[in-house]
Amino acid sequence: MHYTQLRPVHNRWSYAISNVKENLWFILLSSLGILFILYGAAFAVVTFTPLVPSFISPKQTSAPDLADGIRQWPTVDNASAPIAQELCPGYYSENVVRTTNGITAWLRIAGQPCNIYGKDYNDLILNVTYQTDNRLNVRITDSEDIQYVIPDDVAKAPVAETNTAQKYEFEYNTQPFEFWVTRRSDGDILFDTRGTKLIFEDQYLEVMTKMEPNYNLYGLGEVIHELRLGNNLTRAMWATDLSNPIDSNMYGSHPVYLETRYGGDLQSRTTSTSHAVFLRSSHGMDVLLRPETLSYRVLGGIIDLYFYLGDTAIQAIQQYVSSIGLPAMQQYWVLGFHQCRWGYKNVNDLRDVVKLYREANIPLEVIWSDLDYMYQYRDWTLDEKNFHPDEMHHFLEELHANNQYYVPIIDAGIYAGNPTNLSDVYDPYTAGLDKSIYALNPDSSLYIGNVWPGYTTFPDFYRNANTLKWWIEAMRNFSTLVDYDGFWLDMNEISTFCTGSCGNDKLSDNPSCLFDFVGSPSTDYPEGFNVTNSTEGFHADSAKAVMAQIMPAVAPDAPVQLDKIGRNVNYPPYKIKLAEELLNLASHTLSPNVTHHDGTLEYDIHNLYAYTETMTAYKSFLELRPNKRPFLLTRGTFPGSGSYAAHWGGDNSSKFYYMAFSIPQVLSFQIFGIPVVGVDTCGFGGNTDFELCARWMQLGAFLPFYRNHNEITSIPQEAYRWSSVAEASRIAINIRYSLLPYWYTLMYRAHVDGTPMVRALAWEFPNEEALKDADRQFLVGSAILVTPVLEPLVTTVNGVFPGSRNDIWYDWYNYTKIEVPNGKNVTMDAPLGHINLAVRGGSILPMQEPGYTTTETRKNSLKLLVALSSEGVAQGEIYLDDEALVPASTLNVEMTVADGSLSVRSRGKFVITTMLSKITILGVTSKPKRVHFDSPVVVNWAYDETSRILTIFDIDKFNGSDLKSFNWTLTWAESDTST
Ligand code: NOJ
Repeated sequence: MHYTQLRPVHNRWSYAISNVKENLWFILLSSLGILFILYGAAFAVVTFTPLVPSFISPKQTSAPDLADGIRQWPTVDNASAPIAQELCPGYYSENVVRTTNGITAWLRIAGQPCNIYGKDYNDLILNVTYQTDNRLNVRITDSEDIQYVIPDDVAKAPVAETNTAQKYEFEYNTQPFEFWVTRRSDGDILFDTRGTKLIFEDQYLEVMTKMEPNYNLYGLGEVIHELRLGNNLTRAMWATDLSNPIDSNMYGSHPVYLETRYGGDLQSRTTSTSHAVFLRSSHGMDVLLRPETLSYRVLGGIIDLYFYLGDTAIQAIQQYVSSIGLPAMQQYWVLGFHQCRWGYKNVNDLRDVVKLYREANIPLEVIWSDLDYMYQYRDWTLDEKNFHPDEMHHFLEELHANNQYYVPIIDAGIYAGNPTNLSDVYDPYTAGLDKSIYALNPDSSLYIGNVWPGYTTFPDFYRNANTLKWWIEAMRNFSTLVDYDGFWLDMNEISTFCTGSCGNDKLSDNPSCLFDFVGSPSTDYPEGFNVTNSTEGFHADSAKAVMAQIMPAVAPDAPVQLDKIGRNVNYPPYKIKLAEELLNLASHTLSPNVTHHDGTLEYDIHNLYAYTETMTAYKSFLELRPNKRPFLLTRGTFPGSGSYAAHWGGDNSSKFYYMAFSIPQVLSFQIFGIPVVGVDTCGFGGNTDFELCARWMQLGAFLPFYRNHNEITSIPQEAYRWSSVAEASRIAINIRYSLLPYWYTLMYRAHVDGTPMVRALAWEFPNEEALKDADRQFLVGSAILVTPVLEPLVTTVNGVFPGSRNDIWYDWYNYTKIEVPNGKNVTMDAPLGHINLAVRGGSILPMQEPGYTTTETRKNSLKLLVALSSEGVAQGEIYLDDEALVPASTLNVEMTVADGSLSVRSRGKFVITTMLSKITILGVTSKPKRVHFDSPVVVNWAYDETSRILTIFDIDKFNGSDLKSFNWTLTWAESDTST
């Protein structure tokens, strides 16, 4: 390809429309000069026909005849596919050496190589490392060091500590080599390869473990599935842009599972135990969950298994998350309510949405822009017609003055300019060419795909320092146009709409941006719409198109093109179980033979693409805004992404069942270490209706990341569009905002030790086996039980109040004790606009009077809600800081109730500027005789005998400043003698 015709890169990139104009002048003037020389100045009478930007006559970008490649039928579904466990020899071990912190050994092939889905390695190296008390690493590599290993500078491998008191045992048989991992405390075998063979080929690894009957497994995402994965599922991992397919591969890859075991025949197991297992691999893989076994079938790399002992689910999650990289602490405003839509087509649209939210008195914290703001869907540009920089500037100034925020989208693909069209100038692209940042074909030509703007190149973020420089420069230039508060990283799996390098040698066909993505309006509505809104439309046929085509078991004509080490990377012999929509590994994403700058093939690192982009964006942010916490929302994820970004679940649909799936989606991401997660509230694809949107706005308020977003062909769905949704949203957002100090503290907990912000019932009540499948309710932290309505046309909801008779739950709205049998399904009233919430006895919640924004809320007075347990105890914490990346001042407050006394102790220098106004204590069994703080100040209090609530009010008026230090004790004596 020839790029010489492109204009040299400017020192400072300039932007689309102005460039076209500027370029026209440049062309006109230089043409004049040439003509002047040719014909002589005095005689030249020249008529210029101005160059017409070619986007005026749009055409289709991708040739219609593009080959999609050959459909690969999943090996796991192919009854005649060779069975590695039967045909391969396995390995035996020798030279086993026990070291102070582990074991090393050689593994030798135990017979004739089977070469079943690749070439067998004869010799392997086993390294077992006792990494921490609770973490064991079993690593098996080829002795030739050929197989791909994720380097530490890309994603840091869990770091081993010295002198561990390992709580596990690694045991093995030498001939054949088999291993098993036991928890020492109870002798429980957590992973057991006995009776199975290890297979280690260049394009196929297989490890298999026995499983308990009816095992309880969670994780292995990203997937749309119930929280508990069941015992018969194939989980493929290959990052792809697919709109929330059920049970298939999609945007993120997280080869980690959490397993919980209840009771059983182990005497010592009085409660459940949980552990986690992580296979650190960026390769495509299938994880086969079968009734008695679990197998990993991986397309390459090494076996790098990590075992986390738990013993509880929360401990296992903490151990895993701490080992892959603790989640980023986000800025406070991230917890606010966000509004987005693909289709806010100019600044006025944005302004109107912000205004209409305000007029409807529905708190709005962040307004987002989808692709609409860009010039022809090109990253780092503004469509100056609809989003003129001056207008944007005024709008954002106003927005920021009102303590609201703005986040625009950035796609991963970069529009590739047409080299033969001199007016088609796009500086970010040429700057990237100049720095050699794009992913390449094996022959070193550019890999050109097709995304929204047309033909597109893909920045290579993998160990390419130039790409980081390019991003920083792009951000810096963009900052002169838009005062953004974060970035939304989309299409980064990475997504492309054609298969292979479809734009190669066709760039000159590609006049400019062609995708005027309007589409026809959606006619799809939520379940029940025909009943609730029968006069407004029809209930679209929701039957899913049958995608599967019956194909031959083996595609005979799959091209064989070997890479440098002899692998067929585009059509590997083992075919993972991709979503039915995908023909092969290259469908909808980069071809596996894409070559990165250090020579690494996409095949080996595909699942890392989004992760490397996110890391680059994060570093760029810090370069430009040092010590400010970068806010990034990424669609594609990998273990460790949580250290850099938040995540949303991508393209769901406006259906009640997708709303229901959002709970397991969000809970699974707590396991994956990306706790700040949510989904497109009210649904992305199809039309929502008032019922679904009201229910979803209420559920979304209790998920860590809360954003309403939908696509351009669907009806607008801002919360103010229906009075019922507006009212439901006001109620739910006010509750969310009143709990902001609690949410922030939960985010801090996740940040310091990986504790999930929202929790499955089974994690908080580990003794109750009946909760192992529960994913229609969840807890915010450990204290708030959420029971949302997840189906249409109902006014009640079923749920449980977990725990034993001693566990008390209080109704959020009236603070009274909920008198129902624990652990039994009960029916609760749930009219539209009401979400059932219960506060767990034993908790102390820090709260604040809700304001319109999180900033306003933070200026309002603080409150404490103390919910006593049946033993009259409770505890809670508050964390606050100055919101810097590395805070200069922090405040940690510990709160405990025992014996009729609330003790509050703090450490840290951060000063809360607002005062405590009220303490509400639930479950005080009799009227106190006296209520007093430890300092001699007036106390205004009241006791309600019926509801058993003690309220201390007007604290700020009488003694707020004395209590600002958060070091005090409040005592309520229930009898004269007890003071
Ligand atoms: C795909 C994203 O998932 C969606 O949220 C976005 O609206 C579209 N891309 C358009 O940018």
